[in-house]
Amino acid sequence: MSITITGMTKRFGQTEVLRGIDLGVERGELVALLGPSGSGKTTLLKIIAGLEWPDRGQLDVDGQDWLQLAARDRRIGFVFQHYALFPHMKVRDNIAFGLTVRPRAERPGKAVIAAKVDELMRLLQIDQLGDRYPAQLSGGQRQRVALGRALAIEPKVLLLDEPFGALDAAIRRDLRRWLREVHEATGSTTIFVTHDQEEAFELADRVVVMGAGRIEQIGHADAIHDHPASPFVARFMGATVELPVRLQAGRAEAQGLDLSALPRRALADGPARLLVRPGDIVPLADAEGPWHVVSRVSTGAELRLLCRHPDVGEVESVLPRRGSAGAALVPGAAVRLRIEAGTLFPTERRETDLHTPRSEPLRMETSR
Ligand SMILES: Nc1ncnc2c1ncn2[C@@H]1O[C@H](COP(=O)(O)OP(=O)(O)OP(=O)(O)O)[C@@H](O)[C@H]1O
Ligand SMILES: [Mg+2]
Repeated sequence: MSITITGMTKRFGQTEVLRGIDLGVERGELVALLGPSGSGKTTLLKIIAGLEWPDRGQLDVDGQDWLQLAARDRRIGFVFQHYALFPHMKVRDNIAFGLTVRPRAERPGKAVIAAKVDELMRLLQIDQLGDRYPAQLSGGQRQRVALGRALAIEPKVLLLDEPFGALDAAIRRDLRRWLREVHEATGSTTIFVTHDQEEAFELADRVVVMGAGRIEQIGHADAIHDHPASPFVARFMGATVELPVRLQAGRAEAQGLDLSALPRRALADGPARLLVRPGDIVPLADAEGPWHVVSRVSTGAELRLLCRHPDVGEVESVLPRRGSAGAALVPGAAVRLRIEAGTLFPTERRETDLHTPRSEPLRMETSR
């Protein structure tokens, strides 16, 4: 099923939770909604599921107006973060639930349901667990039963709201790989909510970055990583260091910064800000440099250096401990900073950061 959302808004009291969402999801696509807590991800998912209604906007699924359809008529599979299985039902009955509660006329026969459940348990790799109760399962196994229950009704659309949120990192990685396989096997159009970047990028065909009720950027992992469309996305993607620069004939310049790795761009002259990841900042010992090292911490693999400029303040840089010219970078050492990659944005007030810039951002790429 293809899903088309247009102009969707939603308020709870005074809070604008969705501020005009436009989003298309292709049939069979796996899309991740990625965004910080409170950005409206669950609300959007609930509207698609029919558990919440928008104030304005449209929700079309294969050309049908789903806002006119009750939740039970939408054939949605929904898995929540803290999914409650029925504790008094065995695994196989939990999975079969959505089929057994159908009206008599639509309900498949017992043998058909049993075969379906067996097939799903094989797919989910829980085929030995059919006779256990939820309390006798690990967290990862429970999540798989929850997914089995969602998949049993052959959903037109599968909605997953942080389904692995409560699990530890290693199990999450396993389940992620496995969910990708299940998605390929079933082909259901899937929307997956997470606030874990790695999870979103590894799983999804496309990632939708949400911030404060708006879509900030839609794209593939590399594009969002290298070309954040707004300062919000840049910061969310780890570019936490902001440096004031001046644009001059297409080049960014600032005292004490080596910006020669950034290619020349056709941009207007004037002040701008450069958003950079700490890992893309390399301090270089330089007796003339206006920056100096304030602190130095080794985590074994990495060296974390804090450098200070009298006007700009402190910035963090992270470099590999081995092989780096880190030996000279001791507290007190004068340095300049070489910037390996970053994104330029016009200088503007912070409050406007949450708005998607309609114009193209001023981008820079590395030539790495
Ligand atoms: N039923 C409700 N009544 C009032 N406010 C609500 C309701 N549901 C959600 N909100 C508010 O709407 C905003 C968005 O909530 P939502 O649950 O969609 O965020 P989220 O992106 O899923 O966050 P998280 O990552 O924490 O799950 C929050 O500020 C939340 O407090
Ligand atoms: Mg949520």
